[in-house]
Amino acid sequence: MKIFQHVSDIGNLQQALADAFEIKQNRYKYQELGKNKTAMLIFFNNSLRTRLSTQKAALNLGMNVIVLDVNQGAWKLETERGVIMESDKSEHLLEAIPVMGCYCDLIGVRSFARFESRKDDYEEKILNQFIQYSGRPVFFMESATVHPLQAFADLITIEEYKDKTFIQPNPLFGGNPVQRTPNRRPKVVLSWAPHPKALPQAVPNSFAEWMNAADVDFVVTHPEGYELDPQFVGNAPVEYDQMKAFEGADFIYAKNWSCPGVTRPEDYGKVLGDYHDYLSWTVSDRQMAVTNQAFFMHCLPVRRNIIVTDSVIEAPTSIVIPEAANREISATVVLKRMLESL
Ligand code: CP
Repeated sequence: MKIFQHVSDIGNLQQALADAFEIKQNRYKYQELGKNKTAMLIFFNNSLRTRLSTQKAALNLGMNVIVLDVNQGAWKLETERGVIMESDKSEHLLEAIPVMGCYCDLIGVRSFARFESRKDDYEEKILNQFIQYSGRPVFFMESATVHPLQAFADLITIEEYKDKTFIQPNPLFGGNPVQRTPNRRPKVVLSWAPHPKALPQAVPNSFAEWMNAADVDFVVTHPEGYELDPQFVGNAPVEYDQMKAFEGADFIYAKNWSCPGVTRPEDYGKVLGDYHDYLSWTVSDRQMAVTNQAFFMHCLPVRRNIIVTDSVIEAPTSIVIPEAANREISATVVLKRMLESL
């Protein structure tokens, strides 16, 4: 695997899941594979989970790791070709990228949507330059439009929990055990939730793309105006009534995203209206009551009592921590596949 961007890059999903559960049984099984190989992780944006889990994955495989926070300690980078470089940006990406490639065997890049141009974001202008000029395999650690390491971890988590019938309370928060009867084919709902700031569409895009490829009944719910790009949402049913969408669900995946600009390109990257007017979309016990004792998922970080109430995220059926833990597993599988292709 030379690029990890889309679900199609990982190939057969059942095989990818089998690889994930093999790694989970013994995450150090392939320690020799990465010996004397270096992973370089480039962050244009903040991170907790991606930064830590991907480093851990590289260490699991015996690799060395270099982490660069582009905006803290490196030269500020110009990304536009043809610019007269008079600003505070001292180095151009077109030199920086091949130089970075000299020092490593694999490159992971995090570079969020900039919301300056829908075209630039959806054409993946930054990540594609890494693919073109680094000379190295490139994996996306959340780009302008996708977050495949997250979506793969989400799929692993759904696979682990879909058949569970008895759930112990979270030792941190207490409560009573939950008994549930799973649907034969799990119903998975991606629900928009409110947020005060404009957030990218990378997580919901990838989640939709991966769920469309998985063996689940997938439904998307959001207010009108937040339609996701068809290349990711495909033919998944979209339900504008959140309560209706939640009925009988086995998994609720909450996430905010700003306007994708599908129906009104001029609204791309905007929060539509005053987010206070959308607080009925906050995932609470009211919506969870109509589900099939659904598991609650979120990629984290999450704003409590805006995206989700304390009671839902602390419930025994909240699986946000195991979901985050699976980031190490998804990253280990992806780096292993990339090492095998060197
Ligand atoms: N879910 C996720 O990607 O978390 P970070 O932004 O902390 O890496």
